[in-house]
Amino acid sequence: MKRKIKKTNSKKTNILVVHGPNLNLLGEREPEVYGRETLTDLNKLLKKRAREQKVSLRIYQSNGEGEIINFIQKNRKWAQGIVINPGAYTHYSYAIRDCISAVNLPTVEVHLSDINAREGFRKISVVSAVCIKQISGQGFLSYVQGINEVIKVWSESGRQ
Ligand code: DQA
Repeated sequence: MKRKIKKTNSKKTNILVVHGPNLNLLGEREPEVYGRETLTDLNKLLKKRAREQKVSLRIYQSNGEGEIINFIQKNRKWAQGIVINPGAYTHYSYAIRDCISAVNLPTVEVHLSDINAREGFRKISVVSAVCIKQISGQGFLSYVQGINEVIKVWSESGRQ
């Protein structure tokens, strides 16, 4: 889906990183699927990458659909892109889909596990149509690649 890119004067790329429900339990939650590292480990890695790439992140985790929507809405003017792992909301939250569409920011949908290789209900994403890309099955690297995709959108738009 083609999306309009909003231009701002800020030099750094500002990116929202959103972790959906149950991702606060990373490390203890089904480690055979999601690994033994925690959300703190993941956020540490993302902050390190952000420093290296001169990107600003605002990172948020919530188990609540409305809270995720409020966070995205509240930060929409600051942000130039979103990397979101909507957790199970991926598969049925039209409210999060509408929110992504409403704020009109380049958004990458990420998943730690390979959602296409698991139960049937996980193969359906109701948010993917409003995202520029879906990255799944790469563990923490899914998020790193998601950030890179947002940076790419901005560097490509800068060259035009
Ligand atoms: C997940 C996959 C979803 O199906 C699941 O509900 C999650 C995590 C992932 O990162 O692999 O909570 O988004």
